[in-house]
Amino acid sequence: MNDTAPIRYVDMAAQFAEQRDEIMARVEAVLAEGKLVGGPDIEILEKEVAEFCGVAHAVALNSGTDALALGMMALGIGAGDEVILPPNSFIASAAAVATIGATPVFADVRDDLNMDPEKVEAAITPQTKAIMPVHLTGRIADMTPLAEIAKRNGLLVIEDASQSFGSRYEDRLAGSFGDVGCFSAHPLKNFNAAGDSGFLTTDNGELAEKVARMGNHGLIGKGLSESFGHVSRMDTLQAAILRYKLEVLPGVIERRRGNAALYGELLDPAHVFMAPEREVEFNTYHTFVIQVDRRDELKAYLAERQIRSAIHYPVPIHLQPAASHLGHKAGDFPMVERQAERILSLPVYQNLTQDELRRVADAANGFFG
Ligand SMILES: Cc1ncc(COP(=O)(O)O)c(C=O)c1O
Repeated sequence: MNDTAPIRYVDMAAQFAEQRDEIMARVEAVLAEGKLVGGPDIEILEKEVAEFCGVAHAVALNSGTDALALGMMALGIGAGDEVILPPNSFIASAAAVATIGATPVFADVRDDLNMDPEKVEAAITPQTKAIMPVHLTGRIADMTPLAEIAKRNGLLVIEDASQSFGSRYEDRLAGSFGDVGCFSAHPLKNFNAAGDSGFLTTDNGELAEKVARMGNHGLIGKGLSESFGHVSRMDTLQAAILRYKLEVLPGVIERRRGNAALYGELLDPAHVFMAPEREVEFNTYHTFVIQVDRRDELKAYLAERQIRSAIHYPVPIHLQPAASHLGHKAGDFPMVERQAERILSLPVYQNLTQDELRRVADAANGFFG
């Protein structure tokens, strides 16, 4: 084992090297055909994604952020409405709410980093229109109580499943619980394009068509627009690549799950908290997040040993400058704020070797002595 070779946090070059021939063939086929916007690859990908997720419809879009924004707009959410979400998500979840004119309202999380249903219930007001469970790290939020709360209060459910394509809870997949499921296929996701991409899932055919129109200039026919819209289409090149990525995804998920399981065996639970995978969950490990004391020291200690790690995310959304108008202060969401000081994402990508995983775990255990 080479004890000094750098261990990256992600290794896109290794991923490409493994998939190069197929990706280049798919890209070449699209370029040779010359249909670069729309076309069969988009339509077939939408069908394949819908089938994979166990829903009736999927709409291919340019990003997870626009999937969230268009999905909410199509559901009639806008000015004066409140949407409840966890403040430990990526900024995009709250940004999508704010940019459509609605108000993000935050609810604290549990030790698995996902929404706490009790806190959601307490945050409901007469203005609440929807809840947005964010399936953070590749683990689905606790959807049974969340769906029950939504139903009892007449609220819409917007799943932010950006980090959880292929994750399961009981017998259902991410994107099949909400009125809409919103996904990112950003290069750093498990199911990833070669640039920005995303999609929306739903069982509601009219809604799917509305989202597709809103993301395509409101066009209802050649040269005829029913409303002023956006350009939020997925590029055909990305769709062609994603069709291949969907074929290999089960293998990618299995490798990441194997890596996570090895960390689970090796890391010392006396010092490293890892939220266990409950029986109802099938997690896909977009990230492998540990919670530790002296997090910054551990991160630096790993870096000295050429091991990269990351923090998702260091500043909770309610304390971001972008959210200052919402009037929050430190202390408003104690669990999220405590976790922001303790979370560390260890490398978990599919190309890691067992030796590399052991080196990471040995170094982390060694730090704590
Ligand atoms: C939880 C979450 N929501 C939303 C997004 C936004 O997705 P995109 O970058 O495709 O717009 C991301 C992407 O990182 C995410 O992780």
